[in-house]
Amino acid sequence: PAVVVVRAEAQHINPEIRKGEEKVVDTVLVPELSKPLTVYCRCWRSGTFPLCDGSHVKHNKATGDNVGPLLVKKQ
Ligand code: FES
Repeated sequence: PAVVVVRAEAQHINPEIRKGEEKVVDTVLVPELSKPLTVYCRCWRSGTFPLCDGSHVKHNKATGDNVGPLLVKKQ
C-alpha cells in the first residue's frame, strides 16, 4: 500500500501574502454601512461562513498558516 504524506504547508490557505506576519488581517473603511463592523472569513474554515467565527486560530495553529479575517468597518 502507498503511504501519502501531506505536509502541513500544503494546507495553507495563504501561500505567500505577508508570511512574515503572525496573522494577516486587513481593514476596509466604508462610509455607507449601517453596521459599525462586519468580520469576514478568509480561511474557509468558519462554521458561520462568510462571517469569521475565530476558526482561523485553530487552522493557523494546526498548519503554521497565517490567514486572518477581513474587517469591514463603517467610516
Ligand atoms: Fe476564517 Fe476567521 S474563521 S478568518
